[in-house]
Amino acid sequence: MTSAYSVVISVHVKEYFERGWRTTYSKRVMYVNNVIQNPINIGQMIRVDMRSSLQDMLFALCIVISVCPIVSADDGYDLWMSYKKLDDVRILKEYQQAFSSIVIQGDSDTLRVIREEVKKGLKELLGVDLPIRSTLTKSSALVIGTPKQSHIVQELDLSNELAALGHEGYLIRSIRVNDIPYIIITANENIGLLYGSFHLLRLMQIGKSLTDADICSKPRIQYRLLNHWDNLDGSIERGYAGKSLWKWNELPETIDPRYRDYARANASIGINGTVVNNVNANPLFLTADYITKLKALADVFRPYGIRLFLSIRFSSPLRPSSNKYSRRGGIGTLETADPLEPDVRRWWKDKVKEIYQSIPDFGGFLVKANSEGMPGPQDYERSHADGANMLAEALAPYGGIVMWRAFVYDAKVDPDRAKRAYKEFIPLDGQFRSNVFVQSKNGPIDFQPREPVHPLFGAMPKTPLMLELQITQEYLGHSKHLVFLSPMWKEYLEFDTNAKGCGSHVSRVVDGSLHDYSMTGIAGVANTGSDRNWCGHLFGQANWYAFGRLAWDHNLSSEAIAEEWICSTLSRDSDVVKTIKSMMMGSWQACVNYMTPLGLHHIMQAGFHYGPQPNYARSSRADWTSVYYHRADSTGLGFDRSSSGSNATSQYFPPWRERFDNIETCPEKYLLWFHHVPWDRKMESGRALWEELSYRYHAGVNYVKAMRRKWATLEKCIDKEIYLHVQEKLATQEKDAIIWRDTCLSYFQEFSNRPVPVFSDKVATE
Ligand code: GCU
Repeated sequence: MTSAYSVVISVHVKEYFERGWRTTYSKRVMYVNNVIQNPINIGQMIRVDMRSSLQDMLFALCIVISVCPIVSADDGYDLWMSYKKLDDVRILKEYQQAFSSIVIQGDSDTLRVIREEVKKGLKELLGVDLPIRSTLTKSSALVIGTPKQSHIVQELDLSNELAALGHEGYLIRSIRVNDIPYIIITANENIGLLYGSFHLLRLMQIGKSLTDADICSKPRIQYRLLNHWDNLDGSIERGYAGKSLWKWNELPETIDPRYRDYARANASIGINGTVVNNVNANPLFLTADYITKLKALADVFRPYGIRLFLSIRFSSPLRPSSNKYSRRGGIGTLETADPLEPDVRRWWKDKVKEIYQSIPDFGGFLVKANSEGMPGPQDYERSHADGANMLAEALAPYGGIVMWRAFVYDAKVDPDRAKRAYKEFIPLDGQFRSNVFVQSKNGPIDFQPREPVHPLFGAMPKTPLMLELQITQEYLGHSKHLVFLSPMWKEYLEFDTNAKGCGSHVSRVVDGSLHDYSMTGIAGVANTGSDRNWCGHLFGQANWYAFGRLAWDHNLSSEAIAEEWICSTLSRDSDVVKTIKSMMMGSWQACVNYMTPLGLHHIMQAGFHYGPQPNYARSSRADWTSVYYHRADSTGLGFDRSSSGSNATSQYFPPWRERFDNIETCPEKYLLWFHHVPWDRKMESGRALWEELSYRYHAGVNYVKAMRRKWATLEKCIDKEIYLHVQEKLATQEKDAIIWRDTCLSYFQEFSNRPVPVFSDKVATE
């Protein structure tokens, strides 16, 4: 920890005007770090800053001179991999005795990464720079290797254990040979060794004893991908953490070191693939120029076990559109993109071949078709299956896959948006080639703070369904609100669809065990960007982390994930961990309460999706307005999706169909999603709907106030910069929560015609 006062002159650029002071925080920290590391050369700092962005110079309209007390220099860049030195003397001693050297046999790019990671991790955690050897000495060691490359491991004959671990699984075991203790990490493939090494470091970060370590682990889901909604111009659709990480105009010549750090972070939590561009895809990504750039990225990711995937525009074989904003043009010369046309099929085969020549382990295509203006097979009166199969056929010879999105809501299909995807996709079950996933969002509308599960889960036994979650908080306060999403994702994963009777959880659909899918996958829409701390909000990192951990093992509890993340990112002090965990665990429910309690949904600001706009009533599409969803009137509130309304309840398996359908048995968390409920209807609490709604909105705000109070108790225990950063975010969150509460209650009051009850500030703060 460094304590100093530095004068920091930052030339703050157009960002200052566009996005405000808060976003420049991380830049300031960088300057501060610079000052610490290279004692005062302010002139040079300014020149470097200016050189780094000529455009910024043009916008350099202000010079901010600030005097910063620097207590420390943690800017969040290291994520959960800062490996702060252990201070528990007992555990430190145990580890120091367990490791006098690191023994790694074999060679490959991934093994080189393992050498670096383990050496760095142990050095930082233990404060000792351990030698790396290729042979054993007569003292304790960490031994890493596959039986194929390490004769030490081969002699241990662990073939039975390894047989069950597949190509990504690993074994960590504490053994004694001739009374010398060793910790062994072994796997069938080097990538398993990398995952095992990160697991070991994770255990050490949380101070777990390794004396009797005996851990076998393998992922429950095969494809564990991030989906980046990054555009070619560096912007990110629904991105709240700066610009895209990918600097297309610098690639392939310049490889930003951050690409490697991105891959490290993902590998450390088991993510094994990344779709680098927006689902609203620009066809230029398929040009030879961009394939070269993509290859450069794929080369960086490969040693970390991360395969590169691409979103494609279905109309790519067409001529370019003369309108640059059109979502319909292509990069080819054809007059049609009809998936049954031989020329079109050939075009895709040639394109796929070209990609694989550069990127031999290319993963495949993600496709948004016939949705929100994107072209698709229906433009030619072909089905989603026709479109997906054409691409799948081109990718199959190389082992590539298609992830065909089910996010479609054509108004012609049904007046209720929530029913449309199901109606379009169910008839296609069994018609897709074996290398096609149908990728569905968790709920039937669109990443709302809370939705019931998408009825497609469990209903497509012959088509592998890939679950799409959203890590970026499009509808949950962007990068300004602290909302820990793991409990939400667990609610979906643990939902029992009853598709094949009791025990048909969404997790079992997704991991393939329910329908015996031939491949399994899960995707998270990324919340990363160029902000120094990657996610905008430090706590956004916890969601990236939780996604990876759950994708690897959906049985992990949210509490355990939160604890791991807190210990490895913020503090190992048990009281601090307890306080922060208590903030995180209820934060999603709080957000649901102050935004859309009791099953309300889609009442946010049009387009921006941040604040409330329940009165939004005019749009080119009814299903983009708020009034379409909440249906408030003088009799009550909510969308009647029961059998007397849109009958969306019929899309669920019994007994959910009946439970959702009946207002008496519908869980209250979904009540206004499925029913139009009278204002004076008595709720479980004994309060009438209107009072309960008011109560929930107040409870949500109160929880945020309580989070602020809890955080304030940590001032002396948390890195100063991080403390202040989160403190500021929480203040914004409280302000926003109050706006949500007051806007929604005063709007709905016009219909309920009842006074807003008064609640104490103490109500529901846990
Ligand atoms: C939402 C989101 C869009 C996104 C779309 C999708 O509608 O607001 O920005 O493109 O989902 O998932 O395709």
